[in-house]
Amino acid sequence: MPLQFTPVTENFVAHVTGIDLDDPVRASDREAIVEACDRYGVLVFPHQHLSKEALVRFGASFGEVDTTLQKKLLNHIQNRLGTDEVTDISNVDAQGNVAAADHWQTITTIGNRFWHSDGSYKDLPIRYSILNAVTAVGYGGETQYADLRAAYDSLDAVTQELIADKIGIFWSHNTRDWLHIPDSEAERGAFPKVRWPLVRTHPGSGRKVLWCDSKCWGIEGLSPPEARALVHELIEHIGQRERVYSHKWRPGDLVMADNRAVVHRGRRFIHAERREMRRVETNDDVHSLGYA
Ligand SMILES: [Fe+2]
Repeated sequence: MPLQFTPVTENFVAHVTGIDLDDPVRASDREAIVEACDRYGVLVFPHQHLSKEALVRFGASFGEVDTTLQKKLLNHIQNRLGTDEVTDISNVDAQGNVAAADHWQTITTIGNRFWHSDGSYKDLPIRYSILNAVTAVGYGGETQYADLRAAYDSLDAVTQELIADKIGIFWSHNTRDWLHIPDSEAERGAFPKVRWPLVRTHPGSGRKVLWCDSKCWGIEGLSPPEARALVHELIEHIGQRERVYSHKWRPGDLVMADNRAVVHRGRRFIHAERREMRRVETNDDVHSLGYA
């Protein structure tokens, strides 16, 4: 069966069939996947039960696989999967059991429930985030994706004008501070704050995107209260139902998202249920405007 893309809406989210990601990706398929990701932002590949190695190989066919988050922060919590290239997105402890509610692994993933683009807080952010479900929960646990291109297009003219030349300051610990997660000073400083324009152009589609997420700590030229109120408002706009796709996971689902075009968040689930996903990320090649 040939590679086939079935769109959910005209320009946002497509289901992909006719490919087994256990095998190396052919050059022509790779090109078609990149093109589809430029258009749809999110691609859903069902029935892909991948080993860690196959997942890394799939990611590596789209760019350099990121290891900085694992090395700088997550390996200090646990490294159950034993690799810097695959992140353990789970509520499972190092012994393989469902972690307690107050376990550091559990606490540290709560920040994922806020809208974010992976790596927006880094000078060199993430281009593709690839999630592969090992187990899925009954209640909740969806990953929701929101379209930053449609979010920009649907802003009113006054707001578009207001943010046209604004620069946001993004910080890895913005949400963790808000959640009162007691990280050390070293952890809080692991990723220095970076500056990004609030309006960017997506290189693959030429469309403008509203570049704002829960890591946005401030906006240059606005008072801190004005900035934080505006960030809150913009994120609320991004997360409006008509711009959101909610993915209910089944084991073997693989979702590839373009962080330059969409934000995502994980939804709450019943803690005692085992939720286990693996993630590979590729680095982008566009740097921020520098450190704040
Ligand atoms: Fe994420």
